Amino acid sequence: MKKWFAVIGNPISHSLSPTMHETWLKQLNLDASYIPIHVELDHLEQAVESLKLLGCNGWNITVPFKEAIIPFLDAVDDSARGIGAVNTVVKTKDNKYVGYNTDGLGFIESLGTILPEHNILLLGAGGAARGIAHAFKSLGFIQLTIANRTLAKATTLVDELKIGQAVTLKDAENTLNEFDIVVQTTSLGMKSNDASLPIQLNRLKENAIVADIVYNPLVTPFLEEARKYNVRTINGLGMLVHQGALAFSYWNGMKPDTDGMIQQLVEQIGGNYVNR
Ligand code: ATR
Repeated sequence: MKKWFAVIGNPISHSLSPTMHETWLKQLNLDASYIPIHVELDHLEQAVESLKLLGCNGWNITVPFKEAIIPFLDAVDDSARGIGAVNTVVKTKDNKYVGYNTDGLGFIESLGTILPEHNILLLGAGGAARGIAHAFKSLGFIQLTIANRTLAKATTLVDELKIGQAVTLKDAENTLNEFDIVVQTTSLGMKSNDASLPIQLNRLKENAIVADIVYNPLVTPFLEEARKYNVRTINGLGMLVHQGALAFSYWNGMKPDTDGMIQQLVEQIGGNYVNR
């Protein structure tokens, strides 16, 4: 039977996942489709039951359902449970629906080759930061500093991870030259927000990598600022594509083309951005 996959969210119409997965399915000659489904806020349970009933082979979950979906699944992988959020559901051979989280690992893959010795600074301690912090830990990184406007939230995350340290944004700014990789996960820099930065970058280390999880705009004010220091900057498009590629490989047992997809989406979004 033809396989089918989906992404559920609210709103969902702007999701790039359908284009991405449909393209990969076609490229790899897989007889399957991937559809966006808008789910009303108080209808998540019914939506999940419907997807199961209709035999959906796997689906992605986006805002605002990543946490709320957990009780409705048959099982949740340990790492997703630790993060407290699921972005990918896989149908097993015995028709069980299992939740995973590919966001953090996808983000780390988007950085290219990095080493466990690298000293990482995470700006923000919200949902996105949680996924990324857990993924760094699962890959053996131990030098992790989490800086947040509300210090208590960073402290809670560090306590839970049992690695790293929590600091204020000011402390992070003052010690910036210690970090090899700086990851911007706060909601600053998205289209609707102003151009203010979570920290100033004048103490940025030479050869640092600066990443932002936002991809719209392709160059956020934070990356714009980092580019003045001639460091490598990475936007959130790679995270989007790599989290999708991981989900795709869980469902289909093969890895799709990520570099080509990033290029395709850059063109679709309407930029001429290159990570550099
Ligand atoms: P997400 O799931 O996208 O991570 P979130 O859970 O709402 O979203 O987290 C938003 C993050 O952006 C938090 O770290 C938040 O800091 P607080 O914990 O202090 O709220 C951070 N953030 C939002 N607006 C900010 C601002 N103006 N300056 C600095 N940090 C900000």
